[in-house]
Amino acid sequence: MLQVLNHPLITHKLTHMRKKETTTKDFRENLDEIAELMAYEVCRDLPVKPVEIETPMAKTTGYELSREVVIVPILRAGIGLLDGIRRLVPTAKVGFIGMYRNEETLEPVEYFAKFPKNLEEAITMIVDPMLATGGSACDAITAVKNRGAKNIKLVCLVGAPEGVKAVQEAHPDVDIYLAALDEKLNEIGYIVPGLGDAGDRIFGTK
Ligand code: PRP
Ligand code: URA
Repeated sequence: MLQVLNHPLITHKLTHMRKKETTTKDFRENLDEIAELMAYEVCRDLPVKPVEIETPMAKTTGYELSREVVIVPILRAGIGLLDGIRRLVPTAKVGFIGMYRNEETLEPVEYFAKFPKNLEEAITMIVDPMLATGGSACDAITAVKNRGAKNIKLVCLVGAPEGVKAVQEAHPDVDIYLAALDEKLNEIGYIVPGLGDAGDRIFGTK
């Protein structure tokens, strides 16, 4: 399942992020706000369980989340989505996977992994602003599956058709959420029109 979240507020903020003159501060703040808006939609189908509660007026049945949520940002750029999602799901646990793309081969290289223990039962959200060739996302999904994750959502800001296809072919069971599906990849593996290098723009490293 691919869902492109065409909400006017998301599109407005993303357009600001795309502009080359947008500052690091503005880029980061808009990404944080979009993460929160996306989380609202991504969490729409989280399972709930009935609980008996007592209000000041009466006993009643309420509903609480019945499964743990684990957010897994792909380092570095995925960190930019973490706080916004955690504001909506403050009980979520967080795993990390560190990956960078070899700029020549475009193959992802894993350099760090640390996950909470409960992945079998959890809803696992892998988050990264950019889904380009899909190599990083596919490897991150494999990494959480190897640790037992079964219910996996991939949450990205901007995706290329090539990356979506790669994930759908390698992991057809994973739901993909994007704020925008862009036109294509260029010859050096960057998304066009995209927004440039997400990690560099979040952390001001270029
Ligand atoms: C970027 C981005 C994704 C990856 C997408 O990370 O944040 O993780 O590239 O490309 P792919 O779909 O072709 O794998 P990058 O390698 O630039 O590392 P960084 O987050 O540390 O900047
Ligand atoms: N990684 C990025 O940060 N941007 C792209 O366009 C592609 C990969």
